[in-house]
Amino acid sequence: MKTIVISNRKGGSAKTTTAVNIASGLAKHSSVLLLDFDTQGHASIGVGCDLSEELGVHSIFSGKTLSETFIPTVHKNLTLSPALVFFDVYEYADLRGVLKNRFKMESITEFFDYCVIDTPPTFDALLKNSLEVADSVVIPFVPHHLGVVAVGQMLRALYQSATLLERKVAEVYILPVMYNPHIPEHKECVEKVKKSFGEAKMLSPIGIDIKLSQQFESGIPIILDEKRSRGLQDYKRCVEELLERFQGAEMYG
Ligand SMILES: Nc1ncnc2c1ncn2[C@@H]1O[C@H](COP(=O)(O)OP(=O)(O)O)[C@@H](O)[C@H]1O
Ligand SMILES: [Mg+2]
Repeated sequence: MKTIVISNRKGGSAKTTTAVNIASGLAKHSSVLLLDFDTQGHASIGVGCDLSEELGVHSIFSGKTLSETFIPTVHKNLTLSPALVFFDVYEYADLRGVLKNRFKMESITEFFDYCVIDTPPTFDALLKNSLEVADSVVIPFVPHHLGVVAVGQMLRALYQSATLLERKVAEVYILPVMYNPHIPEHKECVEKVKKSFGEAKMLSPIGIDIKLSQQFESGIPIILDEKRSRGLQDYKRCVEELLERFQGAEMYG
């Protein structure tokens, strides 16, 4: 199983939109587990599920197993562990290593090809638990000045947590979102990110498409939609690029 964490500490940078579309895109050919770690539960809504007030992915922090939280979604190959909406991370003293331990105790890696994790914007125990199991981290960012700053901050947090946990740094992929090629600032910001953090980390940009907002109303991720659209094409290409990069990373270790 390959675990892909979608993360950026900046809110509104299309983490959830990216998480549901990558998870659903991968589910077309593989079995996928989606963990909705942001208590807002928007990823759960995005894959056609109701929010849970009783049992969800956050229940692992109060002694539940991960697998008892699993529910089916809009796609047969996509399993969701939904957000537990009233979970308060600050009520708990020590939440280190809980997700990693659940993966191991329940042999989760044997049952799925991919695990995609949508994360909250805060650098809290939820994000740390996610980074602890990450093989890859996708950082979506809006191409504005603060978006570029946020990518740098996210990368620093990633390297810091890898050092702290004494683990290999995850593969990093940077994804420009809500990109408009006719806006000079967008082009400049993408170039800046390429130059600062390396072209090899960049994925092709996702354009602006209102359907990417509307998909949350229907509960069907755009990548599973029959109708052609910009958002569909862009996220399809994003999944293809990721699969290519994963293959490359496996071959060259
Ligand atoms: N490419 C896009 N084009 C248009 N709207 C988008 C696009 N990506 C995301 N959005 C919208 O932007 C808002 C923030 O996206 P979301 O995925 O919720 O971000 P985050 O999870 O980082 O807070 C949502 O309303 C979403 O529908
Ligand atoms: Mg979100």
